Amino acid sequence: MQNAKTKCYNYISTHISVYLQRLPYVPVDQITYDSKNVIGKGGFAIVYKGMYQNTPAAIKRILIDSNSQDDVAHEIFVNTRLSHPCIVRMMGASRTATELLIANEYIQGNNLDAILHNQSAKVLDEETKQAIGFQVCLAVEYIHSKSIIHQDIKPGNIIVEEKGKRAFLTDWGMANIHDTVSLKIGSQTIVPPAGPLGGTIYYRAPECELHYNPATWHSDVWSVGATFVELFTGSRPWNVRQPREVKALLSSQTEPHALALLSPTWKDTINQCLMYEPEHRPTASTLAKVFRSGLDLQTLGW
Ligand SMILES: Nc1ncnc2c1ncn2[C@@H]1O[C@H](COP(=O)(O)OP(=O)(O)O)[C@@H](O)[C@H]1O
Ligand SMILES: [Mg+2]
Repeated sequence: MQNAKTKCYNYISTHISVYLQRLPYVPVDQITYDSKNVIGKGGFAIVYKGMYQNTPAAIKRILIDSNSQDDVAHEIFVNTRLSHPCIVRMMGASRTATELLIANEYIQGNNLDAILHNQSAKVLDEETKQAIGFQVCLAVEYIHSKSIIHQDIKPGNIIVEEKGKRAFLTDWGMANIHDTVSLKIGSQTIVPPAGPLGGTIYYRAPECELHYNPATWHSDVWSVGATFVELFTGSRPWNVRQPREVKALLSSQTEPHALALLSPTWKDTINQCLMYEPEHRPTASTLAKVFRSGLDLQTLGW
């Protein structure tokens, strides 16, 4: 006869593999890149064009040191839970004592920040903007349905294909981070200027920036709103010289400046995302329906 403790132990040992995430680590020689071939630089990583086995890949390289062993796998943990047509797909990862390499599917294109602000980038037509908006909403709806909060939604973390109208959300470095004081990513310790970690002040929700509230799906929707103001107007949400000036504007519940430049088509919807009361913001699901309306999905190749 088994006692309750043994039964419980047997149950756990049988089912534990269901709960343990399988990390897609591969030998380091299966991820290759040329250090001259940089395609992107964010806050904590350098991204190179390279190969995963024999497939072209974007290789995200994060330096690690002996104190940050556990923190660095975070981005991979979140990634293993994701599979969606509007989210960049992770193919594999590798780590050594000094670095973590994440091989993601390579998107031939550019991030939305570069497309909107680099002079050489293509100008987006209205239908493409709507298609990008729709796909971002789908990606955010999907992650929220899995209780994942991105915490860093912004144009720099949306990659748009060069040909066609496909858009992909990426960068899970901040997702579901609850640390409100500091976080070590790779070999860098980041102490946020204020409030919980996550995001860039231009896109960060007021409740996080001013009251240090933990990020929620509502704060992701604020970031979606700030990103969409920029997508549809080509202007940064806040017209300030220094990012730190944004805090005072949030304190006085000022409307992001670029909202005034929006055409009537999207003004109401995007305005709702930028409500100072988090509960008044729409869900990503509601937003997806609005942006889906009138869009020809065949142009997305769907
Ligand atoms: N899969 C990819 N395909 C093409 N370009 C990418 C890909 N992943 C990242 N990039 C480029 O690298 C930049 C930085 O990547 P990101 O993952 O956001 O790094 P960080 O965490 O440092 O911000 C992106 O803005 C984009 O321009
Ligand atoms: Mg990024």
